[in-house]
Order: sequence, then structure tokens, then C-alpha cells
Amino acid sequence: MTSNRRQFLRAAAAGMACANALRSAESESFIEVLMDEPIATIAPEIYGHFAENLGGVVYDGIWVGEDSPVPNIGGVRKQLVEALRRISPPVIRWPGGCFADSYDWRDGTGPRAKRPRRTNFWAGAAEWGKHRPHTGPQIYDPNQFGTVEFTRFCKLSGAQPYLAANMRGSNPQEFDRWVEYCNSPAGSTTLAGQRAADGERESLNVRYWGVGNEAWGCGGNFLPEDYATEFLRFTAWVPGYNLPLAFVGSGPNGNDRDWTRQVFAKLAEKNALGSLWGWSMHHYAWNASGGRSTDWLAAKGDALRFDAGQYYEILREAAQIESFITSQWDVMGEHDRQHRVKLVVDEWGAWYASGTEPFAEALLGQQSTMRDAVLAGSTLDTFNRHADKVGLAAIAQLVNNLQALFLAHEDKFCVTPTYHVFDMYAAHQGAQSLRTVAAAPAIYKGLPGLSCSASLRGKALTVTVTNPSMDQTREVDIALRGASVASAKAVVLAAADVHAHNTFDSLHAVEPREEQVQARGARFTRRFPPASVTKLEIALA
Ligand code: AHR
Repeated sequence: MTSNRRQFLRAAAAGMACANALRSAESESFIEVLMDEPIATIAPEIYGHFAENLGGVVYDGIWVGEDSPVPNIGGVRKQLVEALRRISPPVIRWPGGCFADSYDWRDGTGPRAKRPRRTNFWAGAAEWGKHRPHTGPQIYDPNQFGTVEFTRFCKLSGAQPYLAANMRGSNPQEFDRWVEYCNSPAGSTTLAGQRAADGERESLNVRYWGVGNEAWGCGGNFLPEDYATEFLRFTAWVPGYNLPLAFVGSGPNGNDRDWTRQVFAKLAEKNALGSLWGWSMHHYAWNASGGRSTDWLAAKGDALRFDAGQYYEILREAAQIESFITSQWDVMGEHDRQHRVKLVVDEWGAWYASGTEPFAEALLGQQSTMRDAVLAGSTLDTFNRHADKVGLAAIAQLVNNLQALFLAHEDKFCVTPTYHVFDMYAAHQGAQSLRTVAAAPAIYKGLPGLSCSASLRGKALTVTVTNPSMDQTREVDIALRGASVASAKAVVLAAADVHAHNTFDSLHAVEPREEQVQARGARFTRRFPPASVTKLEIALA
């Protein structure tokens, strides 16, 4: 063992797993999987999705309508459902996001032809630029996709629904009523009757409820104390219908520790921390300016045209999520000493400038390249490594939007590189996360030269690895501490050019490939191509 390696292992033992400890020119890269250091079961819900009523997510993306020539199941795009099922989506969040903060759930009930048309929250967004349409469902929401349509989409896809309640414009009474509409038993209440008339006789069994969204901003411009008061009002005596409801509180702006501290302190004062199941946080990688600007629009980069600096800036910003998770977890622990409340990262991903939308009405729609695949892989690795803290997460957003898994327009449909990462990483869902120790030379302003996570299910070990370097193959020494390999294979997502992406005309430009791995015993070496995501499927002896 080299002295560098010894130093690193000491640091790791002190809690710096997956740190970027070896910085010298003769650095080696290695991953150690510590078989006897389980972290926690990886909640399948970490692999969740977000579908806001925004741009082309709902209208055209998910909902095409029953009379559409586009193949559909009761109005829901069939190809989307089929592709989604393949990656076992555990949960989908809807209707926002900021959209939720002005949504009246009653608008999405009753006969579709009679539903009201409302101005969408995003109708006046600066991001439209000069391309804002004058009409259409993206501007004036026809409410064809309401609670029953959404939960049916979830059921078809095999996901649980996660609804976000409107705290800015609505009130606790209306929140109770939405819960009643969703969860009261068949035939029991007037709202259960309404639900049946809308097409679902049985309870929708909605367990996850967001109590507000970004309450410090579009969700009402609350101060933390005031948000805590509203949270208490919204969650007091909500009817349960024998289903324990999981309330998710609206967490900080970025890593605002003060917001978390104050809300938790107030809930603790009222002895009400028990009513909080999860604590939401959002993290977008958006500033590609390399420190030249903090302007929300000007600092963004292009989804397809980027240089090395812009490539790394986005990955570096995405990687900050790890320190935000640990920082928020620490503050939460000041009052929630048993750490009963879990972190819910219910919006994450890359956010680029407009210009690569799949169609004009797809506000915030963007293309997704191998850069985004690397971002997705390393973020999911982070969640896996913090499986004891993160109880649910949702990438933003599902289709035709920010880091989307799908692009869809009329009869055209394609999956993005990010979709393939979710497909590859699905093996981690519900498995036991194992501690990993990894090191590689830093490649850009402290961005670790390697990201990884590992999980175990019976004798099946899954190790996922991303190499974020834009141009360097990384040779990595992989060691299993306490187990040995019987056989292994790899699934590799990589492309000759990091800008590679799929389009409606080129559906398979980026696709994973399977490779045999020559490995036996407790250690082996593997080369990871530049800007790649790899899954190692290892059968243990
Ligand atoms: O995902 C787009 C927006 O980003 C969401 O509506 C909001 O919650 C966040 O600021």
C-alpha cells in the first residue's frame, strides 16, 4: 500500500468517503467497496420524477387526449408509459413546482369539456422571450389533466403519486378536501362520488403530499417562522383514511441553513416535528459562466454548444449537492435528534438557456447530452451514498423540460442519455447501500475525478461509476473488501463526443452497450472512458 493510499484510507475512515484526496501528479485512482459497512437501504423513491404543468410536460408530453391520432391509453401517451415502466419509476411529483402554488385542484375535476380554462403560472415567464405563444394549453390551461388523469398515469407507469399542495393561494380547508377527494373510501363522501364520476371509484391512496413548494419564493414569499405556522395549520388533523400520510415540508432556498433551523425550531417548540415526513430541497446546476455572472438568464449556457469550461462548471455545480445534503442534515439534527425526517430532493438537474426546445411551446425544454448523463449518474451516486438521509428525490423534469428523460411531440418520441442512466441505475432501487472509498485526481476546481456508489442485493453487487473527465480515460483499481467476484459484466454509456445526444431523427445516437469484465477474486482493474457512466454487475462468489 502506498503512503498516499494509507493517508487516504485514514481520511476515509474519518468520514471522507468518495473524497478527492489524492492530488499529486502520480496519483492513482481506486475504488474500494467496504462489504461490511452497510449504509442503509436505498429507498426506491430516490429514483423519482417530476412532472409540472409547464410548457410541454403535460400537454403533448404526457397528455395527448383520448381522440388523438397519437397512440394513447385513455389520453396518456402510450410510448411514454411503456418506456417509463422499463425503468421502474417509484414516484412522480405533480402539478408543480411553482405551478402548484396557484393551482386549484377542483379545476381538474368534472367532465373534461366543462372544465375551466385558467392562465398558467408560467404564461408570463421571461424564458419565453419573443417565442411566447398567444394561446394554447401552455398559456391558458384547459385543465384536461387533473388529479384522476395524473394518478391514472402514475398507475399505468407503476409509480406512486406525489401531490404538491397550493399554500400560496389556497388554505387548509381546501387541502383537506383534496385529500378527501383522493383518499376517502369508495361511496363514502360527496367527493368520493365526484372522484367516481371522474372515473376512479376506489381511493387513489395518495401517500406523499408536498405542503407548499419553494415557500420562500414563488410559493408565497414566506419568512421561515410564518411558513412553519402555515405548515402546522395545513397538517393539523388532516383526515388519514387509514393511510399514513407523508407530509413534505418546503425546505431551503439552496443551502439556507437558517430557513431549516427556524422552521425546525418552531415545529419542535410545538412538538410537531412528528408530522413532518420529509424536508424538501432543490438543486439545479445552471451557472455556466465560470464566475463571470450570477444573472439568472445571462449566466446560463447552451445545452448542446459548450466548451470544456462550461462543461465542467455545470458538473461542478451539480456536485455541490453532496455538501448541501450533509449541511442540511446537520441542521435538521439539531432538533430532529433521531433523524426521523428524511431529505427529499424533489427537484434536481441541469438548467440551460432556452434555444434547444423540442418544439416552440415547450417552455424550459432542453436537449440532453452525455454531459447530462454524467451529471445524472454522479448525482444518483451521491443519493445512494447518502441513503440514510435521502428518502425521496425527483429529477426535473420528466419530458420536454429541464433535464428530461424523454422528448415527445405529436407522434415523435425519443429517450435521452439521462433515461439510459435511470435504466442502468434501477438495479440500486431497494438494495443495501455499501460504503465506498474512491479517489482520483481532481480535474477542475476541486471536481472529483471519479464518482461511484455500490449496493448489494443477495449475492448481486452493483457498482456504478462515472468518469467526468471530458477527454481522459481513467484506469481504476477496484477492490472488494470482504468479498470476491465470481463473474462480472459492465453496461457502459459513453460516446465519442460529449455533445452526443438523441433526437427525433436519430433515436439511438447514445445508447448503452454491454461488455464482459475479466474479473475474479477481490480486485481488478478497469478503464472508464471519458465522460462515461458505467454499471458493473458483479456476481459474488
Ligand atoms: O422546475 C422548474 C421550477 O424550478 C419549479 O417550478 C420551481 O419549483 C423551481 O424553481
